[in-house]
Amino acid sequence: MAKIIAGVGSSHVPAIGAALDNGKTEEPYWKRVFSGFDKSKEWMAKIKPDVAIVVYNDHASAFSVDVIPTFALGCAAQFPPSDEGWGPRPVPVVKGHPALAAHIAQSVILDEFDLTIVNKMEVDHGLTVPLNLLFGQPKDEWPCPVIPLAVNVVMYPPPTGHRCYMLGKAIRKAVESYPEDLNVVIFGTGGLSHQISGPRAGLINSKWDTAFLDNLSKDPKKLTRIPHVEYMREAGAEGIEMMLWLIMRGALDDRVVEIYRFYIVPASNTAVGHIILENRLHSAKRWRKRNGLPKGQRPMPVKKRRAAAALRPVLRRGAR
Ligand SMILES: [Fe+2]
Repeated sequence: MAKIIAGVGSSHVPAIGAALDNGKTEEPYWKRVFSGFDKSKEWMAKIKPDVAIVVYNDHASAFSVDVIPTFALGCAAQFPPSDEGWGPRPVPVVKGHPALAAHIAQSVILDEFDLTIVNKMEVDHGLTVPLNLLFGQPKDEWPCPVIPLAVNVVMYPPPTGHRCYMLGKAIRKAVESYPEDLNVVIFGTGGLSHQISGPRAGLINSKWDTAFLDNLSKDPKKLTRIPHVEYMREAGAEGIEMMLWLIMRGALDDRVVEIYRFYIVPASNTAVGHIILENRLHSAKRWRKRNGLPKGQRPMPVKKRRAAAALRPVLRRGAR
């Protein structure tokens, strides 16, 4: 049986992609951003997912105002990069997982979520930048197949936060009814607070962002009640991308283990946010494996584990 083992929330700021593509990652301004993802890359290399589902929004690369699907699921075998502005980024073609994608489409649509099935689609920085931040910058191919899910947050009306959260639950049900043993990671990308144009251009609301991350971890249902207008008022016109993180969160357990969080302002004119949440069962399994403990042994709560890890060097010094 396939299962979703973890969720990743990540900004997808296009300037991060440009910094990567133009060899600026060691410049002090960008180093402070990229170094925040070092631990995330280590984590990803350890869990080695078989498939990634990436929830993002298209920025007029695959869709134009002519056609804007609310939820578009990429069912193709591959998705070439393309982008607004300077054109496609020099990243590998994204390989899909057509069998799992078709299975998700069937399960979710029969569950009354009207996805658009997309058999030909290009993917932009909304998808490729978070892949870079978590997988690095591979030359030839990404380490696992990717199923893109493009969600409309650019033309009114986008779906509600509650609809996004419930779609996440339907995706989880779909994944868990797929017969092959696959470990799946789901990404929610976009945000955090930012506004690109108008009199409030440059708006960043760190207090609101932090509360969003706190609730995403501990009380996601609270976030499902936030109306569109509140995202736009508090997090800026483009801050509404944060709603995409609710699809990722809906696909996880009600209670999760927060593995890592990173927040920095600004990158370009955007607040950069990142979080890694693991389903408890998977987290416990990894902890037992790491410590050579038998099946059934319950892990210490994360806070206690961190306190014990901090004490270890002190105890070692004392023992000498
Ligand atoms: Fe975006």
